[in-house]
Amino acid sequence: MVTAYKAAPDIEVLTSNFPIPGFGFVPINAFVIKGSEPILVDTGSMVESAAFQSALRSVIDPADLRWIWLTHTDFDHTGSLQALLAENPRLRVITTFLGVGIMSLTTSPLPMDRVHFVNPGQKINLGGRTLAAFRPPVFDNPSTTGFYDEKSGVLFSSDCFGALLPAVPQSAADIPEKDLRDAQIAWATIDSPWLHKVDRGALARELDSIRRMAPKAILSSHLPAAPGEMIERLLASLSAAPEAQPFVGPDQAALEQMLKQMTEGHTA
Ligand SMILES: [Fe+2]
Ligand SMILES: [Fe+2]
Repeated sequence: MVTAYKAAPDIEVLTSNFPIPGFGFVPINAFVIKGSEPILVDTGSMVESAAFQSALRSVIDPADLRWIWLTHTDFDHTGSLQALLAENPRLRVITTFLGVGIMSLTTSPLPMDRVHFVNPGQKINLGGRTLAAFRPPVFDNPSTTGFYDEKSGVLFSSDCFGALLPAVPQSAADIPEKDLRDAQIAWATIDSPWLHKVDRGALARELDSIRRMAPKAILSSHLPAAPGEMIERLLASLSAAPEAQPFVGPDQAALEQMLKQMTEGHTA
């Protein structure tokens, strides 16, 4: 199920909770930024494409969209990309050279006349709204490009600041402090295992660059909307992630145990 809620007067969140059995839920968020040139940030998951498009229609007519900002090419971000491009011929995709390259390996490559390249460090003005692109400190795909919306003061961080949660409220502020820290660290160590190898000073400088943006709100692809005053908590969790226990997935023995339980449950 994909639902919608408002994160700011002109920003809607389209969200669904993806269950990971035994681990909890990962929210999967996309965002609609309204204005004279409406922007859709990411396009939901492949598996929920129909539900995503119906939730999208509840907040905007897809024919009115002008831009899709594709933060990166993972399957939880590209679910309705092709359908929306087919439906609206004037819609263009903001991505990078690598984003186009990765999509060219799928059955739905991005047409070159429908893309607009923005690299981290560059800015683009869309209908009077200046978006400053940046590479988030934590990411799982080389095409990842987040942005800071100078008009609303909202930070769009892609997978960075995501959390693996026991339950998903509408605001990150409703998650108890320790639960949020654990949930963020769990996500960070699963999604970006390279964090355990990084130079701590380099990571601290990266996190500081986010701190200096002083966002009014933080919108992650995998965390409920977070008010700006939570930024220190969100940064502290990532700062602690390299020292956390590295994630190791269930092994073959665990898989066989799970399959046995399922079979027993089925025949009982
Ligand atoms: Fe990702
Ligand atoms: Fe993601």
